[in-house]
Amino acid sequence: MKSFKSWRSKSSCGNILWECGDGKVSGSKGLRIKTIPSLGILTVLMLFLIAMTMKEQYEQTRAEGRWQPFDSAKNSNLTASNHRKYLSKNLQEEWRITDQLNTDNKKGIESLPRGIVQETSDLELKPLWRNSRIKDTGKQHRNLMAMTIGIKQKANVNLIVQKFLSANFSIILFHYDGNVDGWNDLEWSRKTVHIGAQNQTKWWFAKRFLHPAVVSVYDYIFIWDEDLGVENFHPGRYLRIMKAEGLEISQPALDPKSSEIHHRITIRNKTRRVHRRLYNLRGSTNCSATSIGPPCTGWVEGMAPVFTRAAWQCAWHLIQNDLIHGWGMDMKLGYCAQGDHTKNVGVIDSEYIVHQGLQSLGGPSANKSSVAVSPSQRSVTKAASEVDPRSEIRRQSVAELTIFRRRWQRAVEEDKNWVDPFEDLRKKKSHLYKKSHRRPK
Ligand SMILES: *[C@@H]1O[C@H](CO)[C@@H](O)[C@H](O)[C@H]1NC(C)=O
Ligand SMILES: *[C@@H]1O[C@H](CO)[C@@H](O)[C@H](O)[C@H]1NC(C)=O
Ligand SMILES: *[C@@H]1O[C@H](CO)[C@@H](O)[C@H](O)[C@H]1NC(C)=O
Ligand SMILES: *[C@@H]1O[C@H](CO)[C@@H](O)[C@H](O)[C@H]1NC(C)=O
Ligand SMILES: *[C@@H]1O[C@H](CO)[C@@H](O)[C@H](O)[C@H]1NC(C)=O
Ligand SMILES: *[C@@H]1O[C@H](CO)[C@@H](O)[C@H](O)[C@H]1NC(C)=O
Repeated sequence: MKSFKSWRSKSSCGNILWECGDGKVSGSKGLRIKTIPSLGILTVLMLFLIAMTMKEQYEQTRAEGRWQPFDSAKNSNLTASNHRKYLSKNLQEEWRITDQLNTDNKKGIESLPRGIVQETSDLELKPLWRNSRIKDTGKQHRNLMAMTIGIKQKANVNLIVQKFLSANFSIILFHYDGNVDGWNDLEWSRKTVHIGAQNQTKWWFAKRFLHPAVVSVYDYIFIWDEDLGVENFHPGRYLRIMKAEGLEISQPALDPKSSEIHHRITIRNKTRRVHRRLYNLRGSTNCSATSIGPPCTGWVEGMAPVFTRAAWQCAWHLIQNDLIHGWGMDMKLGYCAQGDHTKNVGVIDSEYIVHQGLQSLGGPSANKSSVAVSPSQRSVTKAASEVDPRSEIRRQSVAELTIFRRRWQRAVEEDKNWVDPFEDLRKKKSHLYKKSHRRPK
């Protein structure tokens, strides 16, 4: 995988200072329509309807053209041309345009001498000049912690960041409340990258700022929520286990004392170092040794996932640009396990966390017993008097889940080359099961 080679730039400038605006939309004071009021309203209404219809169609088209052959094409056996053969007619035109764009992009690179091309990047702060105050410590940051945070969780985030900094992680913080300055008093604040965008979710940030090419120097990528207690968690030990167990995607187990547990597979088993499946023969989820997928095996939840470089490259592509709550995506993460998801995805028990379920997001009505919005899908809509933001968020999340499932289904139908690795495993397992249970004649 050529594109993953860590090309560390030795250039001395290029301090990364990313800060987004505060997201405020200025009022449209300049616009005034003088006409008979009722007619005016009708016109505006019609225009609005037309605009919405056009937007819907646009989104639809965009969604259909979501397969992006950027760097992914290089790493897979799927070339743009053999993929296109199988696309339905109405997508052909879209692909023609996409192909053209890619050819144009390549043309741009081909005009450079090969040795100067650097496809990858990192998130390290660099000194403005060699002997400037910010010293290039020469530390080898091999792992990245990305956290979506708000100022209300400052105390806990401080604990988490300190722990990861002492393990030589690179830190990038996504501020969903746009409050970046509120962290300046913390000593480590100037050593980390801050990105502020109001009311945005963790998957929104991840899609935009953790492109695989941008984080390609890091071996492991943590994408965590802010309300996790790390008292019994050591990043270094955790990674040693993850490596030794050959896990591509993992999460630390949740202390059973956690106030929020959504899925039983995440609960810590005190007697183990790591577990990969749930055994549960009661209830609606019938999980046994022959189960091959979620919720029994092969997945982790969205609040504290850890990815290898390769798994993240895949997961990033799975995140839909427009579906910001990410519902349903965790169930498909197993497809990013770089092989058998029942082996390469796991929950690490010996390094575990407490899910505090502190809802600073969604405003004061946040109450886990009233609306069960998974915090990994949280957004930050502040209570606007009557509107309960959390139930609005939940409604939106469910709607996104439906869209995501439909897209997956359509993608599977359209890609005739695609073989479901889960299905392969199912066949193999049931075959083995039958074999071992066949009675000798
Ligand atoms: C690509 O797939 C074909 C069969 O579909 C296979 O014969 C070939 O070895 C594959 N190439 C690579 C590089 O994986
Ligand atoms: C962090 O990096 C420093 C400097 O390279 C090194 O001395 C230290 O041992 C590292 N700490 C850990 C926990 O890896
Ligand atoms: C914990 O792991 C042990 C050993 O594999 C197993 O026997 C036990 O049932 C597990 N406990 C739970 C609660 O899953
Ligand atoms: C659960 O699955 C096992 C085998 O996969 C089966 O024997 C058992 O009857 C199932 N239990 C329920 C409640 O469906
Ligand atoms: C949460 O809801 C429960 C019952 O619905 C109520 O008793 C409790 O006071 C609520 N807590 C907060 C912080 O609103
Ligand atoms: C976004 O968040 C800010 C504060 O963080 C809040 O004042 C504002 O009402 C929110 N806007 C929306 C549309 O949720």
